[in-house]
Amino acid sequence: MLTDKAEIELVEIKDIPVFNKPADKQLPAKILEIITKIEASDAVIIATPEHNQTISASLKSVLEWLSCEVHPFENKPVMIVGASYYDQGTSRAQVHLRKILDAPGVNTYTLSGNEFLLGKAKEAFDKDGNITNEGAVKFFETCLDNFVKYVGVVSKLKKSEPIEPEDLDC
Ligand SMILES: Cc1cc2nc3c(=O)[nH]c(=O)nc-3n(C[C@H](O)[C@H](O)[C@H](O)COP(=O)(O)O)c2cc1C
Repeated sequence: MLTDKAEIELVEIKDIPVFNKPADKQLPAKILEIITKIEASDAVIIATPEHNQTISASLKSVLEWLSCEVHPFENKPVMIVGASYYDQGTSRAQVHLRKILDAPGVNTYTLSGNEFLLGKAKEAFDKDGNITNEGAVKFFETCLDNFVKYVGVVSKLKKSEPIEPEDLDC
């Protein structure tokens, strides 16, 4: 269904240690792997749950790793998607995530208004992991189409100078 729109590789973050600025500047191997993948990609889609009305601590921690010493998200187009157990479908987490992605050390390009939110996540998938609601699938396709067009546009923009680590205290 989506393979004709984009080639998407799934990257899990579950085995990554909690962020702790390394005195020796040595990043965990898993973070180095993710950096290589982000740098090689045209764009990134971040999927978030909602924990206590914001993003999960594990996602925030990964974003710290990816904005300290290294800045692989600099000028990278990013789309946000999310699923949660209740009706809100991660709306509050997504607002926070956009703000984090705007921070100077992260500095992605995100497309305004292009939000895919999935509520009642426990009932939303069949046993093969496919979303069962046709309207939700169509809406996801629309969001992805919008994002692919956006990637084409922003990729042509001149890259700004990367921020120097001393300006970020990081
Ligand atoms: C500590 C914690 C806090 C949560 N807080 C919220 C919340 O504020 N809003 C919400 O919609 N879901 C909340 N949830 C449900 C998560 O969105 C749900 O765990 C997630 O969608 C499914 O991911 P998981 O099965 O990997 O945990 C919370 C879950 C946990 C564990």
